[in-house]
Amino acid sequence: MEKLVINGGRILDGKINLQGSKNSALPILAATLAVGGVSVIHNCPKLTDVSAALKILEHTGCKIKREGHTVIVDSSEASGVEIPECMMREMRSSIIFLGALISRFGEGRVTPPGGCEIGLRPIDLHLSSLRKMGVKIAENGGVLECRTENGIKGCHISLAFPSVGATENIILAALSAKGETVITNAAREPEIKDLADYLLKCGAEISGAGQSVIRITGGRTLRGAEHAVIPDRIVASTYMACAACAGGRVAVDGVEKEHILHVISAYEAAGCRISVKGGEMIIKSPERLSRIKSLRTMPYPGFPTDSQAIIMAALSTANGTSVISEKIFENRFRHVPELIKMGADIRVEDGCIAVVEGVERLCGARVSAGDLRGGCALAVAALGAEGETVIDNVYHIDRGCEAIENCFSCLGADIKRA
Ligand code: EPZ
Repeated sequence: MEKLVINGGRILDGKINLQGSKNSALPILAATLAVGGVSVIHNCPKLTDVSAALKILEHTGCKIKREGHTVIVDSSEASGVEIPECMMREMRSSIIFLGALISRFGEGRVTPPGGCEIGLRPIDLHLSSLRKMGVKIAENGGVLECRTENGIKGCHISLAFPSVGATENIILAALSAKGETVITNAAREPEIKDLADYLLKCGAEISGAGQSVIRITGGRTLRGAEHAVIPDRIVASTYMACAACAGGRVAVDGVEKEHILHVISAYEAAGCRISVKGGEMIIKSPERLSRIKSLRTMPYPGFPTDSQAIIMAALSTANGTSVISEKIFENRFRHVPELIKMGADIRVEDGCIAVVEGVERLCGARVSAGDLRGGCALAVAALGAEGETVIDNVYHIDRGCEAIENCFSCLGADIKRA
């Protein structure tokens, strides 16, 4: 098992290029199967979750070529409609392939997906929406057997919660529906807009992506297209936390400011000075962070759940008490006991509220990543801690953060993978 060894206490001063977004790349790769033909996807990060998506595409019969951060998918000859359990278990977004399979072949066989253990993460909204679109779904020995008898039909779907994954699945299924599909209370995340932008290039008719009401007219002739994935707003927030935790100045190239307005406001409220000009973001930390009285995770454009663990790591040494409410997932505080091992003073109330009493300094410890963003939070905390921190289970971090040791080294951190 690989670990990260971080010697904290170095003031940061460095510049880094921001990677492409994992949560955009994954649905776009699934979409390449739905549209057929050859697609060229640029700015695709090198992550284990992306490799898992490519394995699924290959399994269905797609031909894949990877050149640096560009992935070429030829899905012309794809014909497989079944994704084996071992591939589905690799990550949560494997479920988006269901929408792609149904759209392309009118059927699909999958098992419930795996992914970070951050709560129950049901797929009821995905399945009820697909059912409404005319997909018959039967569970047989743990396998979801999905097929359409008379094709997919466009309809009105009002989501009880603006689920990112369910919105993506509906969009993909709707591509080949008869008539118009309207999603209300759709997720508004930039990754939804990026998926729609790719699909528009493929010939799809979609309007409203990035807003609460999305309209998709099915049955358009689709073809592969060339597209560059948007920058990763969550990794951008990780670099903000690096500067906030360790102190110093960090420059990040390739930032989309609009996507991170709430996160910028939060770090500014804690005393960081942040400027974004022409895609370059510069973060300068204060002597000591101020507390954030109250921070609550929300669907986009609110403060992202994916940045919650990371800002908690920074606030654990702030001056005063910060209160963080996690409102999206039930079990997204797995990093708390590990931060406590490093000397943080954090109390969890009702399972979803963390009261963070800022301490003077964290100290190095042996800790373990329990999920992707929680693992990143530990790495960020270690940068500002006194002494050596060893982080086990780095594979969680590798799912979403490309070569974290190289990136943090560029910023001036003392970090190595062992
Ligand atoms: C996406 O997950 C992201 N993953 C997550 O990023 C992110 O945390 C999440 O959206 C919220 O922003 C990808 O894009 C690959 P949801 P997703 O469906 O689509 C409940 C990371 O670290 N829900 O919006 O799975 C669900 O349980 C990851 O990069 C249902 O109840 O999120 C959760 O409480 C982790 N029924 C809430 O909605 C459903 O059918 C939000 O889930 C679907 C979801």
